[in-house]
Amino acid sequence: MEIEEIQLQDLNAETFIEEQVKAIAETVGDGLAVNALSGGVDSAVVTLLGHRALGDRLKTYFIENGLMREGEPRHVVDVFAGLGVKVEIVDARDKFFAALAGVTDPEEKRDKGITEVFYKDVFGKLVLDCGAKVLLQGTNYTDVEETVAGVKRQHNILEQLGIDTEQAYGYKVVEPIIRLRKPAVRVVGKALGLPEEIFARPPFPGPALATRVIGEVTPDRIALVRAATTIVEAELADSGAFQYMAILHEDKVTGLRGDKRDFGHQIEVRCWESEDAVTAAPTELPFELLRKIADRLTTEVPGVVSVTYNVTAKPPSCIEAV
Ligand code: XMP
Repeated sequence: MEIEEIQLQDLNAETFIEEQVKAIAETVGDGLAVNALSGGVDSAVVTLLGHRALGDRLKTYFIENGLMREGEPRHVVDVFAGLGVKVEIVDARDKFFAALAGVTDPEEKRDKGITEVFYKDVFGKLVLDCGAKVLLQGTNYTDVEETVAGVKRQHNILEQLGIDTEQAYGYKVVEPIIRLRKPAVRVVGKALGLPEEIFARPPFPGPALATRVIGEVTPDRIALVRAATTIVEAELADSGAFQYMAILHEDKVTGLRGDKRDFGHQIEVRCWESEDAVTAAPTELPFELLRKIADRLTTEVPGVVSVTYNVTAKPPSCIEAV
């Protein structure tokens, strides 16, 4: 791989910020750039770098793909309004669900269901409409590494797979944090003045809850995993873990509700200890806490009759299920 990592111990956040702001300003010249803010630390850092470099000439969008966590679009817009950055919400829910309909293969979901819609349909149009020539994006070093190694098709990897974005989508992609892994991105986020709630946030994947639905992604199945996610995140917020999540399985299982058979859904809970997501181990959660999560999921999320906890490490597991 040609890109050289900047290791955490070698990172000078202030110098890094200065260099990246300068590079963005030079690349964009006196034109416009766009970027998508998802609320995760990577895109948040890129938004602030771009804002410092370009001010109002950076147009920041939150793409409402219908796959986000409860209340996320509004919350992210509010946090950035507090930082002086205007973020526009683009409703693209129908486009994503239409592309995801009937797709069950994990890589096809990522490729056709997310990447194509995001870059071609949604951003292609936004960029064309506002006349920007550059898309700023928060690809990090681990994203590149995993995609190039063939682990999985990260939604934001393009050039490293030989995709010429200017030819394919009509704009250039600039990736200011591509040499950093997550811990280094957090340090830069703090130095940029992001609130702790954002720079210390557990990672959340670009394809969002679609990576946590095994089988077809439909609005109903996303609503189910979203409700489960709210519960799991609330119960594990104080766990200190690297990342935690709820996954909706494709198979249904026989359960019992009242005195009647209930053929219902299975939710898998995952909670990870990790430094940089390259390897990870399951957190040894107290059994009482797991029981509490299971009780809440089976009583508060309609149709859930079974809850499991993943005890596999990465590898061979991955952090996300899709
Ligand atoms: P996996 O599932 O590969 O995840 O063990 C490693 C880390 O990357 C996140 N992840 C993604 N992040 N776009 C992203 O921005 C993606 O397509 C994507 N897929 C996985 C995952 O949440 C974990 O932190």
